[in-house]
Parts: sequence; C-alpha cells; structure tokens
Amino acid sequence: MKQEKMEREQWGSRIGFLLASAGSAIGLGNIWRFPYITGKNGGAAFLVIYIALAFTIGASVMLAEFAIGRAAKKNAVGAFRELKGGVWPLVGWMGLAVAFIILSYYAVIGGWTFAYIFKSFTGLMSLHDISAAQDSFLGFIANPTQVLLAFFVFMLMVVLVVYKGVGQGIERASKILMPGLFIVLLVLVTRALTLPGASKGIAFYLKPDFSKVTGSTIIDALGQAFYSLSLGMGILITFGSYIGKNENIPKSVVTVTFLDTLVAFLAGLIIFPTVFAFGIDAGAGPGLTFITLPAVFSKMWGGMVWSALFFVLLFIAALTSSVSLFEVVVSYCKDELGWSRGKSSLLMGTAIFLFGVPSALSQGAYPINLFGKSFLDAMDWMCNNILLTTGGLLICLFVGWVVTDRIKDDISNKGRLNFALMSPWLLILRFLAPIAIVMIMWSGLR
Ligand code: PHE
Repeated sequence: MKQEKMEREQWGSRIGFLLASAGSAIGLGNIWRFPYITGKNGGAAFLVIYIALAFTIGASVMLAEFAIGRAAKKNAVGAFRELKGGVWPLVGWMGLAVAFIILSYYAVIGGWTFAYIFKSFTGLMSLHDISAAQDSFLGFIANPTQVLLAFFVFMLMVVLVVYKGVGQGIERASKILMPGLFIVLLVLVTRALTLPGASKGIAFYLKPDFSKVTGSTIIDALGQAFYSLSLGMGILITFGSYIGKNENIPKSVVTVTFLDTLVAFLAGLIIFPTVFAFGIDAGAGPGLTFITLPAVFSKMWGGMVWSALFFVLLFIAALTSSVSLFEVVVSYCKDELGWSRGKSSLLMGTAIFLFGVPSALSQGAYPINLFGKSFLDAMDWMCNNILLTTGGLLICLFVGWVVTDRIKDDISNKGRLNFALMSPWLLILRFLAPIAIVMIMWSGLR
C-alpha cells in the first residue's frame, strides 16, 4: 500500500501481462459473436479477411494504445494530458465513460453465464427441445431476483480481483483463469469434432463461399476486430501503463492478437459441428448461446458436464474482460482523484452495479426502454456504434499526427529496439485505419 503511492504498479512478468491482455480481448465476442458472424459471411472467406484486418489495422491500433500507456505511465485520461493536453484528455474521458457503461451491462450477461453453470445441473438438461429452452431462458432473464443476484455476484468477483491490484489481482487471476479457459476450450473442441455428423458443421464453417463476401463483409470483419481486441476505450492504454521499459511491445501485440484470433476460431469449431450434428439451424444469432446450445447439450451423453463446461468457458471469458474494463475506471480514480485502490474499487463497483440495474431489469422484468430498444441493447448500441469507434479514430489520429515522435521513441525502447515495421504502421495509423473506422461508423449508423 505504501509503495502504491510512490511507484506505479507494474506487471510482475511478461507472461502475466500477455495473459491479462489476452484475457481482456478474449470475451463473449469471441465465443458467441465471432462464430455467428463468420457463418453469416461465408465461412472461410470471412476468416481470411478477418485475420488480415486484425493483424494490420487491429494490431496497429493496439500498438498505439499500449505505447500511449507506457510512454505516459498514466490512466487513460492522465495519459492524454501527460503527452499533449489541450482537448485530448477528452478522448480519455470518453474511454473512461465507455468502460463504465460497457461494464454495467457486460457484467449482467456475465451474471447469466455464471447462473447457467449451475442451471446445467438443475433441470436445464431436461429441456430437450429449443422452444422449452427458450421459455426457460426468457423466464430466467425476466426474473428480477435471479438476474440481480447473478449480476451482483459477478460484479463482486470483478471488484475482488481488481481490489487486489495489478500483480496480486489481475495478473494472478489471469494466470489461473486463462490456462483454464484454454483447457476447457480444447476439451470442448475435441468433443464437438468427434460427434457423428460433425463434418457438415466443419464444412459450413470452413468452406469458403465467396458469393457471400460483399462490402459489408469487410465492415463486419473490421467491427468485429475492434470489439474483439478491446480497442478504442483506454483498456490497453491502462494496461500499457504497467508495462516495463524493456518490454518488446510490438511482439506482445502480435501474441495477443494471435491468441484472441485462435480462441475465436476454436469457438467456431465447438459451435458449428455441435449444432450441425443435431440438425439445428446455425444462424440463430444471439440466442444461440443460451437457448440453442443447452438444448443441443441436453441430447448428448453427459450433457450436464458439457453444458457446465461451456458456461464455465463463457464465464471465464466474460470475467477477465470485465476485469480489464473495471481497471480503466479504478486506475483513473487512483491517479486522478488520489483514492486508494480499495476505495476506488468499492465505490466504483457500487456505482457500476447501480447503473447496471436498469440493464439487468430491462430484459423482461420491466419494460425499461431507450431509443426504442431495451436499456441493455441501447447501451450496447451506443457504445459499439458510436463511442468505441470514435475513441479508436481519435487514438489513431493522436499517435499518427500529434505525438508521433514521442511514441516512436517509446516503441523502439528509446532506440534500443529495432521495430522494422515503423513506416507501414504509421501509414496505417495516419490514413488507412481512420478511413476504415469512418466506414464502420457510417455503416453502423445507417
Ligand atoms: N473484447 C471483448 C470480447 O471479445 C469485449 C470487450 C470489449 C471487452 C470491450 C471489454 C471491452 O468479448
């Protein structure tokens, strides 16, 4: 605690930092959204486009965020003030607000995943058809007591991890949870691929269908890359501020992007073979996770275990992403308001929980609407389509045009490291990424 005031916290090890960043990136977006969007956009054809965009534009923005954080050694707001000042700290403010808002509803869904681990053992597996599973899900999310309780417990876990600090909390939790996630993932992939009839699902997922590739495919891919890599809201600026001076940041960026893409890809190898083996429509979209999959698991031998494992996977993914969102907020309170980590976590955890209550209750318990959508969907729409992309755009412009030299100096570890891709990277930040982001925003607003 005394040290906390004098010296900024740092990652204890390279692997801890990588796992925490991968934990942020790997979330609900990888496990339900990626497979579904890939299926919709022509399978393998989409995969190729996605990988290309994630490793160029996505990775470039990630590198910019890490470098801003490490160069400034400050939270998202303080970093912009430290490096430039003027109106730029507003970008950090926006990131902070987005992290606060996203967490308030992301943790609601996190609560659902937690509840479904237990539901796997208490009757969920006796619902063999999809309409029964759907009734059960809609009943659950409309039950105020259950939903609020699950949300509260989930939020409590997020607060506890962040309360413990960067090394003892976030890093340690990531070192346990992320390997756990990989093991569960591999077990489920093996199960799915060995189901009779799995090959039809593999073909659907991986056989390229170029007729489905259109302009909007590219925009879908880019939007997915941004969301999946947790870009645009100061998470990676905050995480970057705990990186040591000797770390090779470009290399870390490649590792994190690779792990995130790998998990998304493997999630598809669970979902499509499983769904196809039981002859169910794979285009179910958002409902796939909580409705279709439990119904499918209920028909498998040992369904309880597969279902529980699947929700453990989702739960870990949601928890580590939520922790990264919360650290953005806590880091701000510590640096800028001078609060202790304990006070920041408790007060902000309470505030986020309270702000999330309307989202939690808007899914059937009470008709809480905004802009013609449920409160939860309205928050999600606003963050994804407007705030995240605006944040990403401004970060590109900031590094590409405003503080370029300082950031170049940081990435090269003050000249000790040769980053061979410096020029293409700058080209992406200055022109390619801003144009691409404006395109995503435009299509999202239509
Ligand atoms: N990257 C996370 C995912 O794929 C989502 C997320 C976005 C988490 C933004 C935190 C912030 O689910």
